[in-house]
Amino acid sequence: MIYARVAGTGSYLPGAPVSNNDLVARGIDTSDEWIAERTGIRTRHLAPEDVTSSQLAYEASVRAIEAAGCTPADIDLIIVATSTPDYVFPSTATLLQAKLGITNGAPAFDVQAVCTGFAYALSTAEKFIRSGSHTRALVVGAEVFSRILDWNDRGTCVLFGDGAGAVVLEASDAPGILATALHADGSHNKILCVPGQVNRGQVTGDPFLRMDGQAVFKFAVKVLGEVAREVTEIAGLALEDVDWLIPHQANVRILQATAKRLGLSMDKVISTVGQHGNTSAASIPLALDLAVRDGRIQRGQRLLLEGVGGGFTWGAALVQF
Ligand code: ACO
Repeated sequence: MIYARVAGTGSYLPGAPVSNNDLVARGIDTSDEWIAERTGIRTRHLAPEDVTSSQLAYEASVRAIEAAGCTPADIDLIIVATSTPDYVFPSTATLLQAKLGITNGAPAFDVQAVCTGFAYALSTAEKFIRSGSHTRALVVGAEVFSRILDWNDRGTCVLFGDGAGAVVLEASDAPGILATALHADGSHNKILCVPGQVNRGQVTGDPFLRMDGQAVFKFAVKVLGEVAREVTEIAGLALEDVDWLIPHQANVRILQATAKRLGLSMDKVISTVGQHGNTSAASIPLALDLAVRDGRIQRGQRLLLEGVGGGFTWGAALVQF
């Protein structure tokens, strides 16, 4: 039996943290108190104008490959989850491949499931590895959400940040990823979207992120609870067997409500939203890498990674680290 295990993690955040008060100083009609109380967010990182998702992905990938004890030449599959690709095409994954100097012909492609993108990418890579067709996958979530924010819409622009996280997933005799579950319901596509297009050289529609915050909140808490239970059951385990819950980092109140629904203490939840804001597809691997590097997550522990995002999409992976 071939399993897929996480061999190494890495992450990268661009520039210095930007505080809520820094946003006020930049002219946004908000306050540290409002943002912190409603979302838990204190700081986020914003990429300089010339920095793209593939560059953030590169920095995170170098760290993950080093942590896995391999080299770029050992990678035989590259999947990047992003909603803020460098270009319409080629994919951010192929740009990353070129930056890493990977010339072995490994397939490279992007997945687009917004804030659930990393769960989709991880689950896809796991299936490649378990099939025996590939042995070492680089799975990345990378975003420059600052580019699609309407900085005149205080209801959304304060919530997001830029960054990237990566894992190397490799074939193993021992269990690694124990179970995954992915879902989507396209009928909710309007509550979180960027409803614009590039059309004959013009941007048509609305190129900024739009959100019905209260609808998103309710949907997120419901499906994060459901999919956590689902993936735990598929693995034949109970929620008490989970050492760490690593949810998509949208809002600390969503994290608290999810933990409460699952009967889990917040001590078991990795929360980085206060420092990073919502980095969409990057948020889960960023939180994972932070907690691996600060020593909270130890080898052998069981991790429940779960995401929810535009589409609407949601999904989870139960991982024996
Ligand atoms: N600073 C100060 N005041 C603000 C700000 C701000 N940044 N943003 C909105 N307000 C004001 C509004 O203008 C409004 O004022 P009014 O009452 O005078 O009209 C008031 O605050 C309340 O606005 P609401 O939009 O109703 O605020 P709400 O209580 O719903 O909180 C929030 C907004 C925090 C976004 C909440 O809906 C939420 O947590 N939603 C979850 C969505 C989320 O986290 N999305 C992240 C992306 S989705 C994902 O990752 C899955």
